[in-house]
Amino acid sequence: MTDQRPFPPTGPDGAPPRKARRASLIERAGGSDDWHRVVAPAATAPLSEPAASRAVAPVAPFAAPAFDPAGLPATAPLRDGPVAARLDASPAPQVFRGTFHIIDRTHLRDQGLIEPEGPVTALLEEFRIIKRQLLLTAAESRQAEDGVRAERILVCSALPGEGKTFCSVNLALSMAAEKDTEVLLVDADFAKPSVLSTLGLPGGPGLLDALADPRIAVEDCILGTDIPGLFVLPAGHASGNDTELLASARTVQVLDRLTANTPGRIVIFDSSPVLAASPASALALHVGQAVVVVRADMTSDAALRDAVGLLSGCDDIKLLLNAAHFSPSGRRFGTYYGYKE
Ligand SMILES: Nc1ncnc2c1ncn2[C@@H]1O[C@H](COP(=O)(O)OP(=O)(O)OP(=O)(O)O)[C@@H](O)[C@H]1O
Ligand SMILES: [Mg+2]
Repeated sequence: MTDQRPFPPTGPDGAPPRKARRASLIERAGGSDDWHRVVAPAATAPLSEPAASRAVAPVAPFAAPAFDPAGLPATAPLRDGPVAARLDASPAPQVFRGTFHIIDRTHLRDQGLIEPEGPVTALLEEFRIIKRQLLLTAAESRQAEDGVRAERILVCSALPGEGKTFCSVNLALSMAAEKDTEVLLVDADFAKPSVLSTLGLPGGPGLLDALADPRIAVEDCILGTDIPGLFVLPAGHASGNDTELLASARTVQVLDRLTANTPGRIVIFDSSPVLAASPASALALHVGQAVVVVRADMTSDAALRDAVGLLSGCDDIKLLLNAAHFSPSGRRFGTYYGYKE
């Protein structure tokens, strides 16, 4: 993922900001390190191979009735009613029942995020490459009957500010554009939730509330959006025992409800920095893939190794190089096939 800021970042004096370390992890490792044995770097996939031409295992069509916001006021309850009775009794597809909201496209654009229905940009192309790899792995895991974890992707990083939310939201926006994929973006950074403000959504009960109180159905907390296929689950109200809640047996039940009988639905968790808070490593036990965002010229080798070690609950850890000022292959998206940057 390249740096999407229009100009290289500068400090208050106009000079480049001080870097955490001189050596960035991947830009200078140049293949001399042994990360390839641990992870499959998403952002450094061979870019010469067009992502769209890769064989992608077919994803079963989403079984839930299509969400149709027509006629609903901006905060209308979603599909309330008889669905509730079906939730536990039958294998009917899971249906979300929170409120519906319009996402302000200008707000997305102002933050440098993918703009649905917007022009094809370098950012859009980069996330197309990244999502294709994640969807391919999810589809393969599904076919191998690896269970519900195949549909869950954890986005985390070693330290704060490395671009977890930026990448999670862009991934969710990109995946929602898929014909056969529905995305639930979960704000799982309980200490510093920012998915709602990033998308301009109102606060409300969320995952932590559903974990803490069995009377709260998690599907009631999920927000629908006017971006087709995009749903959001807020973090909920934090307490002092968030990690213990995540480690409880109820977490399995609650997470299972998010994808019940809906093989086309992907759940993305925007989580906390692995070395600063414990929820990410607790969540790693429940996901099929963990994407570790590595910020160019910021994430140190030691921090990344420590973080990957703490994610050992997940078998498939991928690195996503973020805010790079170069393309590993020299190729620049946005300049091909008539696309304009
Ligand atoms: N590739 C990028 N191009 C441009 N801006 C970026 C990029 N990646 C991240 N940013 C910006 O950097 C800032 C920090 O990113 P973000 O909030 O996603 O990090 P984070 O890892 O979620 O932080 P935290 O640990 O505080 O939750 C944001 O302003 C975001 O818009
Ligand atoms: Mg964040």
